[in-house]
Amino acid sequence: MSLEDAAALRVLRDAVAQDPLVHRFYTRWFALDASVRDLFPAEMAGQRAAFAQALRWVYGELVEQRAAEPVAFLAQLGRDHRKYGVLPAHYGTLRRALHAALRDHLGQPGPAAWTAAVDAAATASLNLITGVMSGAADAEEGPAWWDGTVVEHIRASRDLAVVRLRLDRPMDYHPGQYLTAQVPQCPRRWRYLSPAIPADPDGLIEFHVRVVPGGLVSTAVVAETRPGDRWRLSSPHGGLHVDRDGGDVLMVAGSTGLAPLRALILDLARHAVNPRVHLFFGARYRCELYDLPTLWQVAAHNPWLSVSPVSEYGADPSWAADYPDCTPPRGLHVHQTGRLPDVVTRYGGWGDRQILICGGPDMVRATRAALIAKGAPPERIQHDPLSG
Ligand SMILES: Cc1cc2nc3c(=O)[nH]c(=O)nc-3n(C[C@H](O)[C@H](O)[C@H](O)COP(=O)(O)OP(=O)(O)OC[C@H]3O[C@@H](n4cnc5c(N)ncnc54)[C@H](O)[C@@H]3O)c2cc1C
Ligand code: HEM
Repeated sequence: MSLEDAAALRVLRDAVAQDPLVHRFYTRWFALDASVRDLFPAEMAGQRAAFAQALRWVYGELVEQRAAEPVAFLAQLGRDHRKYGVLPAHYGTLRRALHAALRDHLGQPGPAAWTAAVDAAATASLNLITGVMSGAADAEEGPAWWDGTVVEHIRASRDLAVVRLRLDRPMDYHPGQYLTAQVPQCPRRWRYLSPAIPADPDGLIEFHVRVVPGGLVSTAVVAETRPGDRWRLSSPHGGLHVDRDGGDVLMVAGSTGLAPLRALILDLARHAVNPRVHLFFGARYRCELYDLPTLWQVAAHNPWLSVSPVSEYGADPSWAADYPDCTPPRGLHVHQTGRLPDVVTRYGGWGDRQILICGGPDMVRATRAALIAKGAPPERIQHDPLSG
């Protein structure tokens, strides 16, 4: 059976990771099926990389003769792909184009070769991949996406915005999850965002967005979003969670990494008794600790929550005066200056805590490494995937 031919699958695994092959595939696919091109953004480098990474992982699992995880992954990918407007016929043309691209690529002179066994493994594996994705998409009865209208856009600081929307129909998600969003300023550019409040039966949802330097979508959301804009959201993912019976909690939020942790805190606040939660909320400047007033309110009413504001620099820049003042009333918080990984680990490794870290990829990596160096067990540390 060709799906049991590990040697042939290994040849395919090594081929699908190569950019020239992926390039060749997309060129063929768009020539074969013009309706597909319009689904993708103009710039394809990121997409080629994401596609190659996913396929390489799937083939790696097939080489090891593991089926359960790749099938679950592909089924989820298929359900999620409904948001792009993918149609069943697209899977047929993808299969043909990828098979032909593999044949051309491996037909070139070189150590790997397009043998009958590789041909059979390619056919069987592509049938499996497209069959699982399209089958799961067909079987899914839930919405392919959620549309919503921006009702409020608050410029919380120079590089930060809080955006509130009302969805046409409510979305059920767990606090701490993330989803992808498409905004009207950047069609076909889906980006991950984390709701900052728990799921709301009336469809209200809130996001906190920070400008990434040179970032297309984050810049548009912060600078150009207006009430009335229509956003499209995908289904939620991710498993950041607090086990209410799992002991005390350390949360570390870098800038808008606060959003999912805040959703978890607001959810916990519905219960009278909770584990103790210590939240470090960090930014470059004090004036960028945009949500401190709300966190102050929550902590004032919930003795299990303590909040440590942290900024890299002690003084605010001159532009701080142009944005809302986020200094909380005195008393509840002691402000600290420094980088989050350093400030957090001044208190040790927090090894007895459930640890949740959220923020930009560099901050998450550095904080995780600093905590582990101080003795925190890696299995107690949760964070989201570090890139989309
Ligand atoms: C699970 C998850 C949840 C997320 N939740 C939020 C959220 O709630 N709020 C929020 O503001 N952002 C969040 N992000 C980041 C967000 O999805 C985008 O990556 C970010 O807004 C940049 O998009 P862009 O189009 O502006 O930048 P792009 O045009 O895609 O990229 C521009 C440049 O910035 C770099 N870059 C991309 N993302 C980041 C980043 N996060 N940090 C540093 N450099 C980056 C790119 O490598 C590139 O060089 C989340 C990301 C993930 C993976
Ligand atoms: C009918 C076939 C398919 C179509 C029409 C399709 C289309 C798309 C589109 C339009 C995007 C978004 C691009 C962007 O916004 O930048 C995307 C993303 C992606 N696709 Fe596909 N795709 C198909 C099959 C596959 C298959 C077979 C795989 C791999 C097994 C795959 C893996 C991915 C990945 C990893 C992403 C990145 C973002 C995400 O996870 O949604 N796709 N695809």
